[in-house]
Amino acid sequence: KDEMDEEAYDRFRKYDIGDIVGVKGDVFRTQKGEMSIRAHEITLLSKSLQPLPEKFHGLTDKELRYRQRYVDLTVNPEVKRNFVIRSKFIKHVRDFLDERGYMEVETPVLIKSTPEGARDFVVPSRMNQGQFYALPQSPQTFKQLLMVAGFDRYYQIVKCFRDEDLRADRQPEFTQIDCEMSFVEREDVLGIFEDMIRHLFKEIRGIDIPAFPRMTWHEAMEQYGCDKPDIRFGMELTNVTDVVKDCEFVVFKSALENGGSVRGINADGQAGMPRKKIDALVEYAKGFGAKGLAYLAIHEDGSYKCSFSKFMKPEELDALVKAMDGQPGDLLFFAADKNKVVFDVLGNLRLEIARQLDLLKKDDFKFLWVTEFPLLEYSEEEGRYVAMHHPFTMPMEEDLPLIDTDPGAVRAKAYDIVLNGTELGGGSVRIHQDDIQEKMFEVLGFTKERAREQFGFLLDAFKYGVPPHAGLAYGLDRVVMLMVGADSIRDVIAFPKVKDASCLMMEAPAPVDPKQLEDLDIAIVEKKEEE
Ligand code: AMO
Ligand code: AMP
Repeated sequence: KDEMDEEAYDRFRKYDIGDIVGVKGDVFRTQKGEMSIRAHEITLLSKSLQPLPEKFHGLTDKELRYRQRYVDLTVNPEVKRNFVIRSKFIKHVRDFLDERGYMEVETPVLIKSTPEGARDFVVPSRMNQGQFYALPQSPQTFKQLLMVAGFDRYYQIVKCFRDEDLRADRQPEFTQIDCEMSFVEREDVLGIFEDMIRHLFKEIRGIDIPAFPRMTWHEAMEQYGCDKPDIRFGMELTNVTDVVKDCEFVVFKSALENGGSVRGINADGQAGMPRKKIDALVEYAKGFGAKGLAYLAIHEDGSYKCSFSKFMKPEELDALVKAMDGQPGDLLFFAADKNKVVFDVLGNLRLEIARQLDLLKKDDFKFLWVTEFPLLEYSEEEGRYVAMHHPFTMPMEEDLPLIDTDPGAVRAKAYDIVLNGTELGGGSVRIHQDDIQEKMFEVLGFTKERAREQFGFLLDAFKYGVPPHAGLAYGLDRVVMLMVGADSIRDVIAFPKVKDASCLMMEAPAPVDPKQLEDLDIAIVEKKEEE
């Protein structure tokens, strides 16, 4: 209205926001460089059922927003902008890899369900009744087979499917930039894919990203309590086990007796935190399995306010404060438990405090590589070791002798790229020797027969000459999400799924026609009530 004279406005006013009109007139550029039209004739091309909201206030109602995603995208230019960046991003990825001799190869979507990894989505077969395809969780085995086939620089921008619970950075279908190369070592992979990300940030956002620091998995756990550390701020973990090992405080003592540890973080300058807030943090810690959380505030006069002072001698407290580099005004938190719990609790507490103190700036991009992941992790649920990355990951040669005696201590030639506490991508040097691959299956508890049944196609192929190879996959949605400063990958996916993995707009999943079930020879059986 502000831009139009009275008469022109009158001709427009019978249309509502959302209507599509055709305008005939003179087109010219304004001084600001915008396009302007002096309209002679306006025709209605399509009427909107109801005027669209100018902004999606009402549509902060999540349900409506995803049910009418097309309206959401129409009226929220800031969401739409994400797709412009996503499109540009993909173009730059293709150009970058093409210039370096990578070839895009598509791989099948209807494949075989294989164990290891997340849960598969399965698709019933009509032509082979009673049998099922699976949707790929990643093109992992295919890209390795392409290496056998001599396609020595492969990439693909590809949909992957995992039947997992949704999170802000997790969707059941998502896109990977999947890459594999032959005749390379770890350094080659890290080099090129670090360059790619720095190039993309420069081209698209104009930001110079310095060389990525490196950290081993062990260092990441010790310092940050997690394998995808957010290094935009400090507040690192300190192991105080040695300092408290002789004290009489039962909480600490029993944790140590059970093979655990005592570690702390220093929220510097936070000694004045109100009791209510501290209590809330203790509750927060309990959400990650803590039985409790001990704290100690150092007043400006050097005296302490401490939740466990009555259990420890003053000189023991002094030693603890010293070990934590506690200064007047600081607030220290301690967790005592099994290492896994301590890491989880303090790793998350550190993030929560940073959020509360507004230390997490979206425009501060802190990348790093995390390397030397453990090859295996013990699954309590399955009562065996499972591959931490996947079963084709190469162990570090120097750790191979441990594979039978101490499998949990074997490190892998695996790496992750992390940005601001989010895992953006990961990969590994692969096993190309069939004796090591066989050993790996054995450690994972596969019999020879089962390994053949599941991965025979790969094992067979590997008998025909396999070049040493390595690769990695980026989660495209996650990179774009962080690049545009979105809070959720939903904001960079045109038609995302909601929490229960459904698409509200299409109403998928949905029952199918009985005829379709009949063709598949599938019957839906109602679950009997548990007695
Ligand atoms: P990985 O399982 O680590 O490795 O996956 C690679 C990257 O994909 C992204 N990602 C996801 N993004 C959104 N929603 C999800 N549910 C989801 N799951 C994973 C993450 C992750 O870092 N084949 C191997 C790679 C290789 O070894 O080359 C693989 O798939 O950003
Ligand atoms: P209590 O004996 O329950 O009063 O506990 C004394 C202090 O130890 C309190 O501050 C508790 O929150 C803390 N505490 C209890 N369990 C743990 C734990 N596993 N790690 C760290 N502190 C704990």
